[in-house]
Amino acid sequence: MKTETSFDIIVFGATSFVGQILVEYLANYSAEEVKWAMAGRSESKLKAVQIDKGVANIPLIVADSHDEDALHKMCEQTKVVISTVGPYALFGETLVKVCAETGTDYCDLTGEPQWIKAMLDKYETTAQTSGARLVHTAGFDSIPSDLGVWALQQKAIAQTTKPAQHIRMRVRRIKGAASGGTIASMLNVVAEAGKDPSLRKLLVNPYVLCPTGHHYSLRQTNHKKAQFETATDMWTMPFVMAAINERIVHRSNALLDDLYGTDFKYDEAMQAKSGVQAWSMTLGLGAFMLGASIGPIRRLMASKLLPKPGEGPSPEAQLKGMFDMRFYGECHDGSKLEFKVTGDRDPGYGSTAKMLTQTALCLAFDKPDLAGGSWTPAAGLGQDLVTRLAEHAGVEVVAVQ
Ligand SMILES: NC(=O)c1ccc[n+]([C@@H]2O[C@H](COP(=O)([O-])OP(=O)(O)OC[C@H]3O[C@@H](n4cnc5c(N)ncnc54)[C@H](OP(=O)(O)O)[C@@H]3O)[C@@H](O)[C@H]2O)c1
Repeated sequence: MKTETSFDIIVFGATSFVGQILVEYLANYSAEEVKWAMAGRSESKLKAVQIDKGVANIPLIVADSHDEDALHKMCEQTKVVISTVGPYALFGETLVKVCAETGTDYCDLTGEPQWIKAMLDKYETTAQTSGARLVHTAGFDSIPSDLGVWALQQKAIAQTTKPAQHIRMRVRRIKGAASGGTIASMLNVVAEAGKDPSLRKLLVNPYVLCPTGHHYSLRQTNHKKAQFETATDMWTMPFVMAAINERIVHRSNALLDDLYGTDFKYDEAMQAKSGVQAWSMTLGLGAFMLGASIGPIRRLMASKLLPKPGEGPSPEAQLKGMFDMRFYGECHDGSKLEFKVTGDRDPGYGSTAKMLTQTALCLAFDKPDLAGGSWTPAAGLGQDLVTRLAEHAGVEVVAVQ
């Protein structure tokens, strides 16, 4: 981990929708003294953020995501880079490369499994050598899922000496909307998968992000449709973030030396109030995915129907947003455990900005001994991040009695 740098954190993508929320959060953050700077490709846009957020004293760094020299100069100045420059599959690789090479810690908001897989294949060894700690998926996907499972397993092991064999995560309540940046990232995954059959195969593998040589082969449940689930006594429907969250949870298990067991079962779905709601939401999601998979319709959705990059939910909607995710664990002795992870803002922006910032602070201040490499939030940061989120981010990870 680097020690002598001008900044603790550089926010790359400070002009993005989520980046601006994050800047406001950091500007008002007083729990620790943080030396930070803002970076992006456009000096005029960065200056506008300085004025708009009242942070004229925060230094600016201009760098394009494809300009390796500029990213090198940026990384030399900081312990950690936060990146909100997405879709990451289009704009993210050079920064990961430079961070891995220069021993600079890094965290981002990608939910793009195919891109994470490519970054692991190309740069994980470099990061292990340089000491850079890279943490993808440090927002709503996948921190609540990753930490919720991790916390439940700690309790299962303490109580029964073994991890829970099966955990079901069900989204009980969620209030929020997607930004143009998130939609652009989702549409890009669908577009890439449409062009490449090998990518489609890769995306359905639940263990795709586990290190090579893992020994998991248990078939996992994939919630593709509405159903009444007797185990939880509720109607369920597909949860769009399951595709990334489930893969991150299995990677955590592998990085934690099979802490959750080699035959661990994990699946995510949303709880519905009734069969009618479950089926109508499932059909709506199916129609969206079908439309997104057809090039001309996808382009029409992106240009006319959905929020564009830079747009997203209003400040009022962010304040009214929240999430409540439940984790139901089945232990080997027949006992059951329940945990919940809740957030006090809309999941994708208000809460995500706080989770991403706390991930960066955790890397900068709490983890001097964590080895270089590509970590998940739970495997790399565990209890330190749980504590930070509860104290400073309105995100609680707790057992339900
Ligand atoms: N994991 C989660 O829970 C979660 C939640 C929210 C968002 N996300 C992801 O986070 C990312 C950001 O979302 P958003 O809605 O905030 O996006 P956005 O508003 O569209 O912002 C994109 C950012 O990328 C910058 N950018 C684009 N091309 C660049 C280049 N060549 N060099 C440098 N910067 C460049 C833009 O700079 P300009 O302003 O100069 O154009 C802008 O700052 C997306 O990938 C989204 O999927 C994830």
